[in-house]
Amino acid sequence: MTPDLQEAGAALLERHHQQPAATPAGGASFGRLVHASTPDFAHGVALYLDEISVSFDGFKALNNLSLAIDVGEMRCIIGPNGAGKTTMMDVITGKTRPDSGAAHFGTNIDLLRLREPQIVKAGICRKFQKPTVYEELSVFENLELALVNDRGVRAALFARLSPPQRERIAEILQLVHLLPEAHRIAGLLSHGQKQWLEIGMLLAQEPTLLLLDEPVAGMTDEETERTAELFLTLVGKHSLVVVEHDMKFVDMLTQGHRKVTVLHEGSVLAEGTLAEVQANTQVIDVYLGR
Ligand SMILES: Nc1ncnc2c1ncn2[C@@H]1O[C@H](COP(=O)(O)OP(=O)(O)OP(=O)(O)O)[C@@H](O)[C@H]1O
Ligand SMILES: [Mg+2]
Repeated sequence: MTPDLQEAGAALLERHHQQPAATPAGGASFGRLVHASTPDFAHGVALYLDEISVSFDGFKALNNLSLAIDVGEMRCIIGPNGAGKTTMMDVITGKTRPDSGAAHFGTNIDLLRLREPQIVKAGICRKFQKPTVYEELSVFENLELALVNDRGVRAALFARLSPPQRERIAEILQLVHLLPEAHRIAGLLSHGQKQWLEIGMLLAQEPTLLLLDEPVAGMTDEETERTAELFLTLVGKHSLVVVEHDMKFVDMLTQGHRKVTVLHEGSVLAEGTLAEVQANTQVIDVYLGR
């Protein structure tokens, strides 16, 4: 979840506790203007990392990492613990500044010059491993919050939703398998359902690029399968970067033909279909085991 969304969530929670029936007219004017030019995807590349290096106290978490993700592509990233997968997402989202290298969104947006909220605004959303939904709000309210945040009008938190906004929420509820749970308090959802709700909240922000860090960790087999189905429906409409250790899930997502990238010691060790990288002896040695 973005820092912006967290702040907005706190405001909605406050409204919930203090005056559930009230609808203040003006709302608070705590919106912040964020300027970011529109990304140019004319060349078909959504994300381009070029020789990115990140060091922590002399230890190279990323070591000349180069990677390109196409518009509408779903790319799975695998690799051993400590390979730099999460650090890579930290760089893309502006949380960590690299020591060297370049990172572009489309051909024109230099991610290394933007702050975290500007990167979200440009169309990059990230899902952390642990679900971070507003437990005290209903599923619907969580999505409402994400949708309103997307429009950048924080004051609208206190306004009624328009019919198209309600429709969009219904669409997302359907997509993330939560339509029957719309009015349940999010805290009562299962772990998998909370993950889906958070994915729905990201989708409400209409991201171009979605970064998902171990999205099925802790899910049951059935939830994992339904998550794969959900991600497959997003291919083409969004670019997705999925970091996962669960090879069954990666197999479901790649369907025998999509590209998998293996990270090791902060750089790309191998790229290819899952079968190809699983047969790569270097990959077997450092990650998959014999
Ligand atoms: N803020 C930090 N300060 C110091 N070291 C860090 C920091 N963040 C990451 N590291 C180190 O950088 C390396 C890469 O970590 P990272 O979390 O990116 O790996 P990962 O591929 O996501 O691993 P996992 O599969 O376990 O999630 C690790 O050795 C980690 O200890
Ligand atoms: Mg990680």
